[in-house]
Amino acid sequence: MYTLQQANNYIEENRTSVIADYRNDYHVMAPIGWINDPNGFIYYKGEYHLFYQYYPYKAVWGPMHWGHAKSKDLVTWETVPVALAPDQPYDKDGCFSGTAIEKDGKLYLMYTGHIEGESEEDLRQVQCIAVSSDGIHFEKVKQNPVITEADLPENAKPQDFRDPKVVKKGDFYYSLIASKQEEGGGQILLYKSKDLLDWEFVSVMLKGDKEEGPMWECPDLFELDGKDVLLFSVEGLPKKENNFLNTHSVLAMIGEMDWQKGIFHKETVEELDYGLDFYAPQTIEDDKNRRIMISWMQMWGRNIPTDTEQHGWAGSMTLPRELFIKNNHVYQRPVAEIKKYYTNKQSYKTIKVSDETKALEGLSAEVSAIEVVVDVTAGKRIDLEVRSNQVEKTLVSYDCETGLLELNRINSGIELVGNEEEHVYKRSVYCEPENHKIELEIFLDRSSIEVFANQGKYTLTSTIYPTKKADQILISAEGDIEIDRLDKWDIEV
Ligand code: FRU
Repeated sequence: MYTLQQANNYIEENRTSVIADYRNDYHVMAPIGWINDPNGFIYYKGEYHLFYQYYPYKAVWGPMHWGHAKSKDLVTWETVPVALAPDQPYDKDGCFSGTAIEKDGKLYLMYTGHIEGESEEDLRQVQCIAVSSDGIHFEKVKQNPVITEADLPENAKPQDFRDPKVVKKGDFYYSLIASKQEEGGGQILLYKSKDLLDWEFVSVMLKGDKEEGPMWECPDLFELDGKDVLLFSVEGLPKKENNFLNTHSVLAMIGEMDWQKGIFHKETVEELDYGLDFYAPQTIEDDKNRRIMISWMQMWGRNIPTDTEQHGWAGSMTLPRELFIKNNHVYQRPVAEIKKYYTNKQSYKTIKVSDETKALEGLSAEVSAIEVVVDVTAGKRIDLEVRSNQVEKTLVSYDCETGLLELNRINSGIELVGNEEEHVYKRSVYCEPENHKIELEIFLDRSSIEVFANQGKYTLTSTIYPTKKADQILISAEGDIEIDRLDKWDIEV
């Protein structure tokens, strides 16, 4: 069995052994070892807390712990001791994903206990609670597990029942839990409780067809701008035109939650991010009434260079993003706090690029934010080359004829390949110009790029691993392209 003490000692003794080359400056990471999903994201007693799926001992997935970081401003994070270890019979093979909620001043975590057996059939997933008074030290309650296979409706597999999201509505706490139907296909189950310990099954909140992926994961539900929004992650969602090219995808559904019947009525559904590395997001509402989302910035089923190159760590979170709804679509904006860390502004105005490749004098960007406004009335195509050393480069391109905005990492650095049927190295999204302009905000860190297009209407998030210094920016155009402005800041935390 693993213990918390063993994990915390191991981290203390070994954290200086990681190789820092690709470690991001302003994104949440663990000090050493593997991370995946964000967990238990909460604003508690004046600080943001973020937990995460964590295996401290290797840069690969293993028996899951909950790592923990906290922050006052969502940009600089402090690692605090590991919160949960798989140290009980009901979570012996992993403390899987879950959420946090405050009750009577205490911080409650609800997570999935993962219990393996002799065969895959024997596997069980159950829901558990841990409580803390200081937000750092957690005690698993004696009533655990609080939801088990005995509480499953017909047609739900006890092997795939995980990732509780707890929300409060009136006098009740509700827990949304991802589940697999007996014959395959995802669904979200709804449970309710008065005290977070005694739970009762309410309904199948939403049921997927087989074509909508064999299993759903990590549901999240919240009200935003007068609508109900359901986010969830889907294993193996089949590719559809430009959508769902990664092995796993994240969906944003806008609709209405009928709390009386426990049913979610869907109005629209869209992919939430058009990059290559974005999975299992979680949201919170903070003290400023903002809906903030953070996501794992990695994808299942591909090589991870910080593991294969033996850097001793793997995985990072996205920049926290504020969500809002406009025209029945979920927009994402980088949290405003990031701007406090902007330095060394460089500004360029009215740049004309005509069938050529141009470098802007004196411009370099590595850990940076870039804002570009491109007039797409006349030209055919623009390629913005970032994190470039001219051999390695990451391309953010806009095709004025098709309206496709594209992120391409085929030449970014270390090759990233996965178990997709076809090798996926670029992604694109149809992005309509607004007043003939495409506006991009691009966030670069040592091994990541996040593109926000047209005020956050679309985002494209990917990891990149340049092997040499890559801080140039080059602009190529087919036809006559005019850039209204390009501003760049370094980000220093
Ligand atoms: C999603 C996920 C969750 C699970 C966790 C295990 O990435 O598969 O469904 O709880 O990761 O680490």
